[in-house]
Amino acid sequence: MNIHEALEWRYAVREFSPEKLDNQDVEALIEATRKSASSYGLQPYQLIVIQSESVRRILLPHSFGQRKVLDCSHLVVLAAQTDIGDHTVDRYTDRYMKVRGVPYEDIAGYARHMKEALAAKTDPERREWAHQQAYIALGTLLTAAAAMRIDSCPMTGFDRKAYDEVLGLTGMRLEASAIVALGHRSPADEHARLPKVRFEDREMVIRM
Ligand SMILES: Cc1cc2nc3c(=O)[nH]c(=O)nc-3n(C[C@H](O)[C@H](O)[C@H](O)COP(=O)(O)O)c2cc1C
Repeated sequence: MNIHEALEWRYAVREFSPEKLDNQDVEALIEATRKSASSYGLQPYQLIVIQSESVRRILLPHSFGQRKVLDCSHLVVLAAQTDIGDHTVDRYTDRYMKVRGVPYEDIAGYARHMKEALAAKTDPERREWAHQQAYIALGTLLTAAAAMRIDSCPMTGFDRKAYDEVLGLTGMRLEASAIVALGHRSPADEHARLPKVRFEDREMVIRM
């Protein structure tokens, strides 16, 4: 299946089948998401993979009536870091030095630049920036899932504060950005057969 077929095949699932996903497939999807691009490479978010039915049952009343939170196979919460600062850059540079085997001097200038760029933002701007990066990961996850023939539904229709509380995110200096239900579409889900609603190329793309 090429990428166009995969993107045509995917849709925001309304009704999941009771069939569960293979854990290995879910892990492969998470691995693809972990490779997502991010501003400066700082990846200021985390992925919470929830298989536990009891946890999803607690989340259900905070999901604006969206039963797929419970009916899906796995629920992924993308959560943005709330505490962004010099330590965000230090964590990244430590990792960079380890992975690439280079001394700090090699990246000192880049580290300074990243710290200055983050310091120039207000706290709400830094938090917004972190959510933007989580959304890029959301896009990567949806596309990778389609390529792997894993059905999904991205969702922002949930009570963020309640999710943060139930999952203990605030204590981890995180806040929920978006959630994704994963699984297999139900054969009864009529939405799978509807044509995609997208603006035409000429309405969306400006070529110069
Ligand atoms: C950020 C985001 C939030 C969304 N929130 C919900 C949601 O809460 N519930 C839902 O059923 N679909 C949700 N969707 C799915 C969109 O409604 C869907 O992607 C859009 O209508 C296009 O349809 P398609 O994905 O089936 O092609 C969301 C999609 C995105 C990208």
